[in-house]
Amino acid sequence: MQYQICSRYMERLYSFYSPFYDFFFGKLLEPGRRKAFRYLSRRPGQKILEIGIGTGSSLELYPPYSRVVGIDIAPGMIEQAQKRAQGLNNATEIKLMVMDAAQLEFPDNHFDAVVASYVITTVPDPHQVCREIIRVTRPGGQIIAVNHTRSENGWYLGRVEDILAPLCVPIGFTTDLDVLKVMRETGIHIQSTVKCNLLNLHRIIMGTKNNHRHPN
Ligand SMILES: C[S@@+](CC[C@H](N)C(=O)[O-])C[C@H]1O[C@@H](n2cnc3c(N)ncnc32)[C@H](O)[C@@H]1O
Repeated sequence: MQYQICSRYMERLYSFYSPFYDFFFGKLLEPGRRKAFRYLSRRPGQKILEIGIGTGSSLELYPPYSRVVGIDIAPGMIEQAQKRAQGLNNATEIKLMVMDAAQLEFPDNHFDAVVASYVITTVPDPHQVCREIIRVTRPGGQIIAVNHTRSENGWYLGRVEDILAPLCVPIGFTTDLDVLKVMRETGIHIQSTVKCNLLNLHRIIMGTKNNHRHPN
């Protein structure tokens, strides 16, 4: 059973982390993030949404001439991302906004691609966030997530992750969520996954919004 995450708590916690987030988590999570961006289409001019953008460590990874919208629930994170965006000069149009990924303020089918980097395990209702991701992605659009995902049932590591979850939630994420399963259940078509980061415990998940939706 998933340990309960509260949005308000995460908003405050990540705002508190924001000035030193990169120092503590940056190097640890960077290899997976960088690798994930290799799978993003390089088509110039595409509209891309990144949910839970944090301090904007990914901003330098977007292809030139992309139109990027980054949202995060924590105002402190958006402030850091704004500072970083000001220092960039890679011909990318960047808009940053405080917003809850569970209630995206964008029309249906609006983005060519949606990126979610280490965020799905930090939200109270991951199914709702994935439904919102799929709603705002255009049919055939890319959905790329990079995240820890609970190990398969029956394997001892999954049990360890269940035990660790109540300890990890107070520091900002859960370890017992099967992210792949949630994405599939909400109708995201998973094309492939690649292992990454420490001990290969994280996954880069490449998906799409199908023209006709079907759970896979
Ligand atoms: C582990 S950090 C990842 C940050 C960044 N994506 C990265 O790759 O380093 C999780 C981020 O998700 C944000 N977040 C948590 N809940 C959210 C929500 N409901 N809506 C939007 N952002 C959220 C946090 O504020 C935090 O910036």
